[in-house]
Amino acid sequence: MAAASAAGSAVVALNSAGISHRKFASVRQVALPVKLPGSINLQCRPMGSVSSSGIKAQVATVEQVSTEAAQKVEAPVVVVTGASRGIGKAVALALGRAGCKVLVNYARSSKEAEEVCKEIEASGGQALTFGGDVSKEADVESMIKTAIDAWGTIDVLINNAGITRDGLLMRMKMSQWQEVIDLNLTGVFLCTQAAAKIMMKKRKGRIINIASVVGLVGNVGQANYSAAKAGVIGLTKTVAKEYASRNITVNAVAPGFIASDMTAKLGADFEKKILEAIPLARYGQPEEVAGLVEFLALNSAAGYITGQVLTIDGGMVM
Ligand SMILES: NC(=O)c1ccc[n+]([C@@H]2O[C@H](COP(=O)([O-])OP(=O)(O)OC[C@H]3O[C@@H](n4cnc5c(N)ncnc54)[C@H](OP(=O)(O)O)[C@@H]3O)[C@@H](O)[C@H]2O)c1
Repeated sequence: MAAASAAGSAVVALNSAGISHRKFASVRQVALPVKLPGSINLQCRPMGSVSSSGIKAQVATVEQVSTEAAQKVEAPVVVVTGASRGIGKAVALALGRAGCKVLVNYARSSKEAEEVCKEIEASGGQALTFGGDVSKEADVESMIKTAIDAWGTIDVLINNAGITRDGLLMRMKMSQWQEVIDLNLTGVFLCTQAAAKIMMKKRKGRIINIASVVGLVGNVGQANYSAAKAGVIGLTKTVAKEYASRNITVNAVAPGFIASDMTAKLGADFEKKILEAIPLARYGQPEEVAGLVEFLALNSAAGYITGQVLTIDGGMVM
């Protein structure tokens, strides 16, 4: 966590197509696949009796209106915590591809986070990185401020950052317990509270918390982790109830075993046992989780889903 705190000094790196090119990017985003409310279809029809200077003036007016309309049609602003690797990275890339402006948070992996930003920009989105420990209130405040300063709002929050510090209860140190609770539960509370303040004023927003199936069923060696994830599920339902009247939906996604750095350290023997317990007999891919998160974050059909826990686990828990 020491390194994470160091990174917490709000190392903000704006990418080349970030703030300074916002105007152009906004225009470009009109053609992106995200269905945004209020998009205007302007057509320029030549009129027979108008002089050439009149036509020029009309074209200029239409161009100006088009640009203004394009600038009004803003792409959703998304904050993804822990987006340098694994599931968070896949989520950030999916939302970037869908045309969102994505804040890519990380704790230590600045290079990886920069790569995620570059990939988002290459696919037509906008992105910036923010190095910060989301278990620290000051870092969270700074992260939210960074998104607001750059893009003026927050439409979607993905609480993804998480760690494991596994061990049997009888041997679990207080520090193992606390680190996991601080990031996996308190971090979700801090980010949700800060982002909901912005969303409340707009009367619009979507929050997606990455929980885990172990928050539903428990797991040997993960008292800290399963308690935190169960806490996230309770927090999700409560915030969903508190903010429904403000048109903010809050849902939890509970993955089973997904191929990432987190599961890579489990070892081959353990993996074999796990696969026997998964009806689909394989680990999930981060992109599969990202697909579900993208649906909850952007799809209009998800607007009537709130307070839910959606498992994505190859049928492990049913
Ligand atoms: N993989 C699975 O099987 C699985 C299953 C169920 C639930 N989940 C949950 O899914 C989420 C992502 O898991 P993953 O497997 O993708 O993990 P991962 O590959 O280990 O990536 C963790 C991410 O969290 C970031 N992070 C770590 N500490 C942070 C902090 N203090 N502040 C901000 N960011 C921090 C990391 O940033 P750095 O790169 O800078 O360290 C990294 O981007 C977690 O909440 C996890 O509990 C995973």
